[in-house]
Amino acid sequence: MATSLLVLVCFCFANPAMMHVSAKTQRLESFTPQDNYLIDCGSPTDTPLAGKRVFVSDENAKTFLSTKSRDIQVSVQSAEDVPLPIYNSARIFIDQADYTFQMARPGWHWIRLHFYPVQNNEFNLQNAKFNVETNSVVLIREFHVKTITWSVKEYLVNVTTERFSIKFIPKEGSFAFINAIELVSAPDILIGDVGTSLSPVGTFSGLSHFTFQTSYRINMGGPIVTGQNDTLGRTWEVDTPFLKPVEASTSASVNPSVINYPDGTSPLIAPPSVYASASQMANANVSSQSFNVTWSFEVDASFSYLVRMHFCDIVSKALNDLYFNVYINRKMGISGLDLTAITGDLASAYYKDFVVNSSVMANPLTIQVGPLNQDTGAQNAILNGLEILKINNSVGSLDGEYGVGGKSSEGPSRGTVAAVGFAMMFGAFVGLGAMAVKWRKRPQDWQKTNSFSSWLLPVHAGDSTFMSSKNSMSSRKSQMLSSTMGLGRYFSFAELKDATKNWDSNAIIGVGGFGNVYLGVIDDGTKVAVKRGNPQSEQGIHEFQTEIQILSKLRHRHLVSLIGYCDENSEMILVYEFMANGPLRDHLYGKDMPPMSWKQRLEICIGAARGLHYLHTGAAQGIIHRDVKSTNILLDENFIAKMADFGLSKDAPTTEETHVSTAVKGSFGYLDPEYFRKQQLTDKSDVYSFGVVLLEALCARPAINPSLPREQVNLAEWALQWKRKGLLEKIIDPTLAGKINPESMNKFAEATEKCLAEYGVDRPTMGDILWNLEYALQLQEASSHGKMAEEEKELMATASPITVSHSVPPPSGAIPSSEQNESTTDAQGVNDHSTAMFTQFASLNGR
Ligand SMILES: *[C@@H]1O[C@H](CO)[C@@H](O)[C@H](O)[C@H]1NC(C)=O
Ligand SMILES: *[C@@H]1O[C@H](CO)[C@@H](O)[C@H](O)[C@H]1NC(C)=O
Ligand SMILES: *[C@@H]1O[C@H](CO)[C@@H](O)[C@H](O)[C@H]1NC(C)=O
Ligand SMILES: *[C@@H]1O[C@H](CO)[C@@H](O)[C@H](O)[C@H]1NC(C)=O
Ligand SMILES: *[C@@H]1O[C@H](CO)[C@@H](O)[C@H](O)[C@H]1NC(C)=O
Ligand SMILES: *[C@@H]1O[C@H](CO)[C@@H](O)[C@H](O)[C@H]1NC(C)=O
Ligand SMILES: *[C@@H]1O[C@H](CO)[C@@H](O)[C@H](O)[C@H]1NC(C)=O
Repeated sequence: MATSLLVLVCFCFANPAMMHVSAKTQRLESFTPQDNYLIDCGSPTDTPLAGKRVFVSDENAKTFLSTKSRDIQVSVQSAEDVPLPIYNSARIFIDQADYTFQMARPGWHWIRLHFYPVQNNEFNLQNAKFNVETNSVVLIREFHVKTITWSVKEYLVNVTTERFSIKFIPKEGSFAFINAIELVSAPDILIGDVGTSLSPVGTFSGLSHFTFQTSYRINMGGPIVTGQNDTLGRTWEVDTPFLKPVEASTSASVNPSVINYPDGTSPLIAPPSVYASASQMANANVSSQSFNVTWSFEVDASFSYLVRMHFCDIVSKALNDLYFNVYINRKMGISGLDLTAITGDLASAYYKDFVVNSSVMANPLTIQVGPLNQDTGAQNAILNGLEILKINNSVGSLDGEYGVGGKSSEGPSRGTVAAVGFAMMFGAFVGLGAMAVKWRKRPQDWQKTNSFSSWLLPVHAGDSTFMSSKNSMSSRKSQMLSSTMGLGRYFSFAELKDATKNWDSNAIIGVGGFGNVYLGVIDDGTKVAVKRGNPQSEQGIHEFQTEIQILSKLRHRHLVSLIGYCDENSEMILVYEFMANGPLRDHLYGKDMPPMSWKQRLEICIGAARGLHYLHTGAAQGIIHRDVKSTNILLDENFIAKMADFGLSKDAPTTEETHVSTAVKGSFGYLDPEYFRKQQLTDKSDVYSFGVVLLEALCARPAINPSLPREQVNLAEWALQWKRKGLLEKIIDPTLAGKINPESMNKFAEATEKCLAEYGVDRPTMGDILWNLEYALQLQEASSHGKMAEEEKELMATASPITVSHSVPPPSGAIPSSEQNESTTDAQGVNDHSTAMFTQFASLNGR
């Protein structure tokens, strides 16, 4: 920075234009936030910071906080090497905790969340894992600190409600913590509604409806600028770590007092300290004077970003001397930017907002400035400041693909019954065994940690600290914890006997090789699906217990959830949520059900895709469903789709079982041909099967229909032929004809075709598919506002069941018998193995 100071001195004395500027009056604006909530969580006393901001103690913040179970306060007396005293204490939540604030005025507000894992005997805060959400946006998903360092996460939200909540939601079996919270009004001028979009170049409006997260805020060519020089308390970092290469740039700076703010700008947008320094083209050690200054930033390319660039010509000696180009991700952002022509003067602040949406996103995000390469003017280019803000995605998240409510945050706990139920519609499909799934990416010592003494303890790695920290806890606390660990409710045998009217055969809603599924009603009136296995060997019980622990970790809005279990007298009973509307398949064909609209089908496919995406990448990483099909997508009373029948398979632990594992499982018509050939299971096998489900939804016929002419028997093969001919619309469900927006259908068909690619590597991830399906839904909705409503009404009017009639021989209203036989065999086959009831071993090792 010594060089920049030198430059500053030179300019101030050698540049008459600059003197002229500094003579101008500078508008000084201060801002007093009307909402100003500052909380030092876990602190017994109020904590004033240097800028006279007082963070109130827990006691004084008590009225904002509501928790389900007692929260735990952690304070550390000695200030370690933390930058601010607010990091000396934290509050720990073992259950969801909501801070709710009464807002004085609507509009932009900062949320700043401060995290530092303070030392504590009972809890190792580095093991905390949790989400942070507002009423409508997911701010942080599965946060956990990786190193002992402090961090601040900053967001900008447009508050539109009188009450505003910030929620801390621990993951199953874990806990949440927070050191300090700020919720503070920000000036409305901070972000306008309109930005420049890059692709295609144009304007983007609607910015005021988004929530932003500050990813980077940089002061180019200058020192770090903090709260002392920024009235809004922002921190502007130095740019050298991001310069690629750093030699391409030198810094320039002037005295901040010379910075001039023309109309439409304000020191609140960026303080003079930021505009008073810049990075410009270096003129040494570069072979030609024609190059760009480049910065690159790590970003999450699945999100769109708002890129704000701050410019101020502090390098020119005359007006209209500096022209340069500005690029974002190598796309032209501004061509021939002439700052003095825009602002009318040297040293005048100017900024521009770019919306970089997913079509032009890349990681890293690159920002470049470079000369125009014309003979006129100086061969230079500058940038004074840069802000990169992440924009919430379409589901209202700033972290990951799931929006608020996209996952179930509350696991059922002993004594409280989750108010949902499930039915395994086993009539025509494979039992639990055939849906074996494989547990990938498991820590290597998993087998060892599996030798737990009490199976009530969680088995897998992330939770090991709970096991160790448990010893030091009071028994009350540990009891509390075991109920939050999501093992589900324990049912006594008598309770379940009551619930199913003494295992009444009329209550049977499904039959499989493992036993029966009963519709039951538990004490609070909730309908549940009770799956009762035949009593098995000790080994069976052990596996059963292991499975419960793993299954109960899987909580997601689009996965059928396990409510509880019973293992009394060696019984193996699982209690699931009841899914009132049964399998998707029944609504597509084979049963006399009113046909579903295209929108409804898309929504169901999107839900199922979310569930699968979660299995593949979510909390319990790397689970392959292995039996994706339309009978395993169940619909609840609101037609929310949930994936069912995801069992779990461990790697085959003994040689004895390896032969079981090599058997290819799955259902005909859905089976990934590559898996079949190589017997190697990957998540792309699920993607293939899901592609078949998409076709079922589009064409309303079974995956395999042996009663059809040979070339039509296999839906995937047949539909791909039509797709390649570009005539897929010829074979779609006739009830959809004329009601699908062609673009929506094309998007859908493209995604489907990719799912069905011959080789797994060519298939998209569930995340990609999700994106495409959502896009297809958007296209449909955009095309049929109003028209759609009519269509729905029409459907309601024709409430009498419509028989599906195909242009090709229909499945005659029934499930083809051969497929039924196949399913049954599959389930029975599974039953041959003592441990097969809940586990299917797959030797499909290692990835
Ligand atoms: C916040 O959102 C509301 C409603 O969406 C809008 O009317 C208002 O202008 C926005 N506020 C700001 C500061 O953009
Ligand atoms: C911040 O402000 C102080 C005085 O208010 C000034 O001395 C200092 O140079 C400023 N820092 C920057 C980076 O502008
Ligand atoms: C140019 O590069 C040489 C060797 O890499 C280095 O010694 C010199 O200091 C550089 N000059 C400037 C102005 O950066
Ligand atoms: C600057 O970067 C842009 C975009 O990456 C590129 O098109 C252009 O050729 C570069 N200019 C120079 C002088 O290298
Ligand atoms: C990006 O923005 C442009 C212009 O607003 C829009 O046309 C395009 O569809 C957007 N792309 C995506 C993927 O959102
Ligand atoms: C999130 O983004 C969507 C657009 O993708 C927008 O409609 C929605 O209002 C945003 N939600 C919030 C709370 O900012
Ligand atoms: C399927 O099973 C039924 C009886 O359950 C039998 O009549 C029929 O022949 C079987 N079909 C095939 C293809 O095996």
